[in-house]
Amino acid sequence: MSNESTEILFRPGLEGVPVTHSAICDIDGNQGNLSYRGYPIEDLAAHSTFLEVAYLLIWGELPTQQQLRDFEAEVQMHRRVSFRVRDMMKCFPATGHPMDALQSSAASLGLFYSRRAIDKPQYVYDAVVRLIAKIPTMVAAFQLIRKGQDPIQPRDDLAYSANFLYMLTDREPDPIAARIFDRCLILHAEHSLNASTFSARVTASTLTDPYAVVASAVGTLAGPLHGGANEDVLAMLEQIESPENVLDYLEEAISKKSKIMGFGHREYRVKDPRATILQGLAEEMFARFGKDDMYDVARALEDEASSLLGPKGIYPNVDFYSGLVYRKLGIPRDLFTPVFAISRVAGWLAHWREQLGANRIFRPSQIYTGKDMRAWSPLEDRSIQVDP
Ligand code: ACO
Repeated sequence: MSNESTEILFRPGLEGVPVTHSAICDIDGNQGNLSYRGYPIEDLAAHSTFLEVAYLLIWGELPTQQQLRDFEAEVQMHRRVSFRVRDMMKCFPATGHPMDALQSSAASLGLFYSRRAIDKPQYVYDAVVRLIAKIPTMVAAFQLIRKGQDPIQPRDDLAYSANFLYMLTDREPDPIAARIFDRCLILHAEHSLNASTFSARVTASTLTDPYAVVASAVGTLAGPLHGGANEDVLAMLEQIESPENVLDYLEEAISKKSKIMGFGHREYRVKDPRATILQGLAEEMFARFGKDDMYDVARALEDEASSLLGPKGIYPNVDFYSGLVYRKLGIPRDLFTPVFAISRVAGWLAHWREQLGANRIFRPSQIYTGKDMRAWSPLEDRSIQVDP
């Protein structure tokens, strides 16, 4: 095909280009509907647990009581990480970003479980269990290690989300806080072909091991255009300081064409349904544990921004209220993206399995813009200077 005819097909960032069939997640961005395997996100967040939703995403159906009990027991059994992984993390620089620590430690699991039998259902099940079980342990371990403390071992009497908060803070969490955190994990578990999920599928398509698949997705999620906006939302709210300053801030930002953090989404033209649920969770947290003053700023910003930017289809996204919930839960700001990864690993693994079910290696083409074929010249004859 000529460059001219491929140019017609070219969509920077693959915007709007379908690259797979998928039965995992559906988004209706005009109506603000999101479903996992056909179940509305509102029902899953209200009635399910994160592990139940992870099972649904990965195996396609909600588990029976027995299936869920078995899955929870397996995950609980595999929560611990080898002392060698913990020793490796102790060698990481304490000033490094927790996402880099997570990417390295997730990849290291491939060294410990190196049998690459991705065509065997038992291997797939074991890998799913290990990744879902160990990622939270590794996130919490690095948090303590970088503070010069020893990691806290998982507690078998605590459920998945409560155990993570316990390993992070060395305190058994309030049951309501643990449930709210579990609901946050449900909301972030899957969102079709975002950058990190696409990255997971590209890596999966080479038939490599699932630890490499998850490590590549973690690396992609780490970028500021993808996973990190909820950190920036908190910084922005603190900069605005009080509801009275919202209009001035907005008008200046809009006149300078700066982005309002936590607003806008490629898929949604209305408020992201996850933002609506997270706002409710923030209110539940504040009712029980005391208000965060930044919530008033956030609400004023949502009101003003929705009238100024709403006509362009720009409304709060999933990141707008999540940082306020996480801060109230005692999660440090630079762990917001690793917490996102703890949840999204369920979606990545669902896409890993789906990719393997009908695999074709991803190998897109390009439009070449370089030199025409030319003659090689010996070193002493070269005169063209190029700054490296
Ligand atoms: N604030 C102000 N204006 C915005 C915003 C925003 N947050 N988002 C989009 N716009 C405007 C743009 O300025 C542009 O206006 P123009 O047509 O007059 O030039 C128009 O809307 C289209 O913007 P794009 O950046 O092209 O929209 P795109 O769909 O590519 O971007 C994105 C989506 C990246 C999420 C964008 O809205 C953004 O940067 N938001 C802020 C960062 C953020 O909250 N990211 C988290 C996303 S959710 C997630 O990844 C988990």
